[in-house]
Amino acid sequence: MYDKTHALMQRGRDFLGTEHAILCGAMSWVSERNLVSAISNAGGFGVIACGAMTPDLLDAEIAATKALTGKPFGVNLITMHPLLFDLIAVCAKHQVSHVVLAGGIPPKGSVEAIKAFGAKVLVFAPTLALATRLLRNGADALVIEGSEAGGHIGPVATSVLAQEFLPALADEFVVFVAGGIGRGDMIAAYLEMGASGVQLGTRFACATESIAHPAFKQAFFRANARDAVASVQVDPRLPVIPVRALKNKGTEEFTAKQREVAALLDAGKVDMEQAQLEIEQFWAGALRRAVIEGDVESGSVMAGQSVGMVTKEEPVAEIMAQLMAESEAALS
Ligand SMILES: Cc1cc2nc3c(=O)[nH]c(=O)nc-3n(C[C@H](O)[C@H](O)[C@H](O)COP(=O)(O)O)c2cc1C
Repeated sequence: MYDKTHALMQRGRDFLGTEHAILCGAMSWVSERNLVSAISNAGGFGVIACGAMTPDLLDAEIAATKALTGKPFGVNLITMHPLLFDLIAVCAKHQVSHVVLAGGIPPKGSVEAIKAFGAKVLVFAPTLALATRLLRNGADALVIEGSEAGGHIGPVATSVLAQEFLPALADEFVVFVAGGIGRGDMIAAYLEMGASGVQLGTRFACATESIAHPAFKQAFFRANARDAVASVQVDPRLPVIPVRALKNKGTEEFTAKQREVAALLDAGKVDMEQAQLEIEQFWAGALRRAVIEGDVESGSVMAGQSVGMVTKEEPVAEIMAQLMAESEAALS
């Protein structure tokens, strides 16, 4: 049915063990058992967002996801989590097949610890040199993610990253493209450039199976591309990774938060690492308020620029079928 798309996705499908090489990127608070299992049951690849979860919470989430799907799914771990190696041990206990390391360069020993229990490791990399090094040193696949994406972002657009990374890496390695993908036509284009598959977040965040609050979903359905803006860095010293979210009062609160952290830094009350942790905790809390409590005014409604293409609540299987049909039509 999707012969041309499936043929171009073959390496990605083999790597993920799925029907379609479409990942739903981990979204903190959103990518839990319900959405993850729905994605995998629809032939895609769901990824649990561990975020700031404790090892016990991750343990329960993996077990609950396994109860809802027999298909492959992955776990996304944030590299700066203070208990990273305990979280890896939880993944080992459950024989998780794929672990995604996000949020920074994988710390020493982490890739090895994951491979030691037989799982595959997916990494992100901001530059071609670093990507090449990570892939040569054991990472099994790469996700390149452009600045159109929702959540934490880098400075370069997906279209540019694709042109830079795919010709250099796609012959030898499995590379997935993420950021700003809202339709199957775009999937077809990246596959033709050599990608093994794609990763989407924004397009799936408000699916019927997503537990996001109805107010969070409404905010998505109303928003246009230009409403999904990147956060502004107030003090150049602060290690602030920009975050793309719908513009609201919370956007201003983040500015205030940065001033507060900068003052703590000046007073010598925190070091740079603690400052970064403070800022990440702000985002985790603000995203939780929006996703779980539905506070879309002062919470953080993280969304990518493809949000304008998300107009109604649809079951994951329908979104997946639409994307695949659009890709197939584009390739035909
Ligand atoms: C609400 C939201 C939360 C996200 N949280 C995370 C996260 O916790 N970890 C992560 O690696 N990426 C996170 N992302 C990025 C997604 O995994 C994915 O790569 C991105 O959404 C793809 O780009 P798109 O939004 O343009 O489809 C998040 C994205 C959104 C929209």
